[in-house]
Amino acid sequence: MIFIAGASGFVGGHLIDALLKGGYKLRCLARSEKAKQLFKEKGIEIVHGDITEPETLEGALNGIGLVIHLVGIIQEKGSATFQKVHIEGTKNLVEEARRVGVKHFFYQSALGADRDSWSGYLRTKAEAENIVKRSGIPYTIFRPSLIIGPWDGFTKKLKDMIKMSPIIPIPGTGRSRFQPVYIHDWVKCMLKVIESPDIFKGTFDIGGPQHLTYNEIVTTLSEVMKAKKPIVHIPMAVMKFGATIAEKTIPFLPVTSDQLKLLETDNICNVDTVEKNFGFKPMKYKDALKGFIK
Ligand SMILES: NC(=O)c1ccc[n+]([C@@H]2O[C@H](COP(=O)([O-])OP(=O)(O)OC[C@H]3O[C@@H](n4cnc5c(N)ncnc54)[C@H](OP(=O)(O)O)[C@@H]3O)[C@@H](O)[C@H]2O)c1
Repeated sequence: MIFIAGASGFVGGHLIDALLKGGYKLRCLARSEKAKQLFKEKGIEIVHGDITEPETLEGALNGIGLVIHLVGIIQEKGSATFQKVHIEGTKNLVEEARRVGVKHFFYQSALGADRDSWSGYLRTKAEAENIVKRSGIPYTIFRPSLIIGPWDGFTKKLKDMIKMSPIIPIPGTGRSRFQPVYIHDWVKCMLKVIESPDIFKGTFDIGGPQHLTYNEIVTTLSEVMKAKKPIVHIPMAVMKFGATIAEKTIPFLPVTSDQLKLLETDNICNVDTVEKNFGFKPMKYKDALKGFIK
């Protein structure tokens, strides 16, 4: 049986559907009634819990061979800080996995994870990676770039903005590069890890086959939506003038104020990372968009 934490999210939702199709037996961590109901309907075993509350994880991994840890937050909210969720939460899950003798631990990190990063998100992702690496449990870590596909929050926000705003505001020059990867390709990589965890031990960058600037990401999406609109670059200094002000003045801002800073830095890896490590060519951004943008 496979245990998944974070199964109620965008990535987790696609993964559980693929795994159920493949006949895998799943046990998933759920916090909300909505998630519990969804898992129940799909015939998934449910553990009510939260990775930041270690007592809720006691016994959750009994009889589990593989743990898939997808829990992450992109924005801190109240007591759900990066430290609490990424670092302490990962520590809790790893400790329980070690206690019951889990055979393989998968952790979903992020491209650019770095202990010295200015970004709390990337810094704590790197620290969580180290907890997994030091656990003594055989592990696989994915460091994905932006993952896109049906229900992904990033594309949805951009899409809403393109639909509703007369112009397309782009923070800064929009020249930083990203490497979007289609969720179905991420799932394909993940299935290979699940089928042969011993072959896919270690840390893997996961990115699509193209380096695309933020400008290209936005214009490609508007082309696929057949909704071309004038692009207006908003100087980063103005955007940074005050996160709160920026978020209030630009409707449907597709990024949080913290993510604004991330938009200024390239977030890329080798364009052949998936092909080299997993043996298939991932989809190009535009082709992937055509698969789910209506
Ligand atoms: N999407 C991307 O482009 C992307 C790129 C790189 C890396 N990643 C990483 O991939 C992972 C999945 O991303 P996603 O896009 O699927 O995110 P998501 O849709 O926001 O899902 C996050 C999941 O984490 C769960 N969660 C949050 N805090 C929790 C806690 N304290 N205890 C238990 N569960 C908790 C959420 O449960 P609830 O439903 O209860 O809130 C949800 O199932 C994250 O680690 C993210 O950092 C994502």
